[in-house]
Amino acid sequence: MSTELAVIPDPVTAAQRYAHVIGWGMHVPEKIVTNDDIAKLVDTSDEWIQARTGIRQRHVAAENESTVTFAVAAARKALAKANISPADVDLIIVGTASPEHIFPSTACLVQDALGAKNAGAYDLLAACTSFIYALSQAANAIKSNEVDTVLVIGAEALSKITDWSDRGTCILFGDGAGAFVMQARSEPGGFINSILRSDGSGGPSLMVPAGGTGMPASTATVMDNQHFIKMNGREVFRFATRVMASACQDAAERAGITIDDIDIFVPHQANKRIIESATKKLKVPEEKMVVTIQDYGNTSSASIPIAICEAIEKGQIKQNDTLMLVAFGGGLTWGAGVLQWDVPPPPPLTRIQETRRSIFYRYARIKSVFRRILRRMEARIFGDGAK
Ligand code: ACO
Repeated sequence: MSTELAVIPDPVTAAQRYAHVIGWGMHVPEKIVTNDDIAKLVDTSDEWIQARTGIRQRHVAAENESTVTFAVAAARKALAKANISPADVDLIIVGTASPEHIFPSTACLVQDALGAKNAGAYDLLAACTSFIYALSQAANAIKSNEVDTVLVIGAEALSKITDWSDRGTCILFGDGAGAFVMQARSEPGGFINSILRSDGSGGPSLMVPAGGTGMPASTATVMDNQHFIKMNGREVFRFATRVMASACQDAAERAGITIDDIDIFVPHQANKRIIESATKKLKVPEEKMVVTIQDYGNTSSASIPIAICEAIEKGQIKQNDTLMLVAFGGGLTWGAGVLQWDVPPPPPLTRIQETRRSIFYRYARIKSVFRRILRRMEARIFGDGAK
């Protein structure tokens, strides 16, 4: 499929610039929590969870794992697939609903761990829609000639902000990360366009109330479980079934195509019934929908890149397929994007390339430690300046 959309030309080569995905990778923690495991914590059952959500199991972070560790693992795989050095990355965007801290951003910690010394880095917080928002920003930064290569990551450690005594939420969420490397190309294709939407009046239906400036952390907020995800499930369900199909239709229209031109739909994996409702409204065959929720639960920002990695692995997504990505989440936010999957599968790295990469990451770690020590020494020696 070719597109008529206006693209700003590269002022140097005068060629039009398109944002292609050239590398992808995912990572989930080893620990698996089944529905039966959850039934030992709250009043629920495997039967209820499967029937109402489609979830069979989810991967959950160990104590020493977090959003950054997942993001770094997925990013390394995506960079290896693209066969580019972290030093070639101009920008890192991490979409997340469970950032490592308020600041520094998760993206900056990822930058440090990867040794991506030439990259700008920031987090993008649009809850489960973050990955589509981030792809849109990355593609537009590439098309406008601001950058050439962007690492886009969706990463979550939602288990750390889940109330494991609340059966309305703890059955849903899982941890993990997915990453894309996007790069400028002159051939048409790649990330074509997106539509991004929000409605803050629905904010209270899905939120983490405390820990920000509106409700700073205190003994009372901790005692009252206000640092965990709170959700009005029915309200979110109604909102999701309302916006999923219309977002796809709007994005397709803007790209100058129809829903029939889409080969594969990759919806946010929040609830199988929400995906089934969108499938019906869009009148598309079930085989066109990627569904991975049974194995991972709702991994928020990570759910779309994880689903894409899985679908490529299983052969459901093939070269030259036109994909529709669609998501909704806290904010409220929602959005959809059209992506042409046109880059051929890259050859695997040789053993020497893999070894070189692993040495590079170790070296990046040593350099980071060294810079921290140097910073401390400078503070000791010069104090508040060389007087
Ligand atoms: N186990 C057993 N029973 C339960 C459970 C449970 N885990 N949870 C609720 N129930 C009970 C309720 O108490 C209720 O009982 P009642 O009829 O006696 O009152 C009954 O089951 C039905 O409850 P509902 O809340 O209507 O159940 P529903 O079918 O809506 O399913 C769910 C709940 C799964 C949470 C659903 O509403 C949902 O998926 N909502 C959307 C969630 C979502 O997509 N969130 C996005 C988050 S993404 C982000 O931005 C972080």
